[in-house]
Amino acid sequence: MREELSDLLMQIQRQLISSRDIGLDAPLLSAESLQYLKKGPNSESESSFEAPPWNSLKELEQLVSKCERCKLSKTRRSVVFGEGPPHASLAFVGEAPGVEEDIAGKPFVGAAGKLLTDIIGAMGLRREEVYICNVVKCHPPHNRDPEPDEIERCLPFLRSQISLIKPAVICTLGRISAQSLIDKGFKITRDRGQWHSFMDIPCMPTYHPAYLLRYPNAKRQVWEDVQEIMKRLGLENPRRLRD
Ligand code: URA
Repeated sequence: MREELSDLLMQIQRQLISSRDIGLDAPLLSAESLQYLKKGPNSESESSFEAPPWNSLKELEQLVSKCERCKLSKTRRSVVFGEGPPHASLAFVGEAPGVEEDIAGKPFVGAAGKLLTDIIGAMGLRREEVYICNVVKCHPPHNRDPEPDEIERCLPFLRSQISLIKPAVICTLGRISAQSLIDKGFKITRDRGQWHSFMDIPCMPTYHPAYLLRYPNAKRQVWEDVQEIMKRLGLENPRRLRD
């Protein structure tokens, strides 16, 4: 009896190991979800993302964490999905994780991230109260700008995030984010500070915090832009962003 049981356990173990080998151990992901990862950008996938096989940000994150839709998957350490309350009123969207974010697996943790945290604080909010993510979820090598094909392949994930979170306001940080969400011809110095929309959600484009580290005088304009956001969100008694 004992031998039979041990035989049976061995068989189950072998079965488990072989199913792992063929990739059947993906936790909580349906076959339908896994199919999404294999689709190219032009195989009717963009519209398919509108009817998602996930029910929550957590499920979406699991799917994205296995993404191999673009070449950045070959060089990344982590997929930096984003963080914040699943129904945050305000979502900040940067361009792509830097090297520190790639290591930490979290968005905006480096010097630019510290400045973003200060900006959020000056709005009278805590970082944990807002959603923070990027257009592109994987670190482009040598901190280069994300390329158009990488943006195109990653954007459906951002769309899905936004449709789950449904923030009242989106704030794009920097040129790449504004060009991806608002208009390819967007010029950050000319067009920031005006309301636009992304997926029917009011969207305020402002400078990237990394730009502010290089050009601190631009903090004044960012402060004007975030004040617009605060008005929209009904936030009162703002503190001034320190120069
Ligand atoms: N810059 C970005 O655009 N995103 C990050 O997460 C970090 C730096």
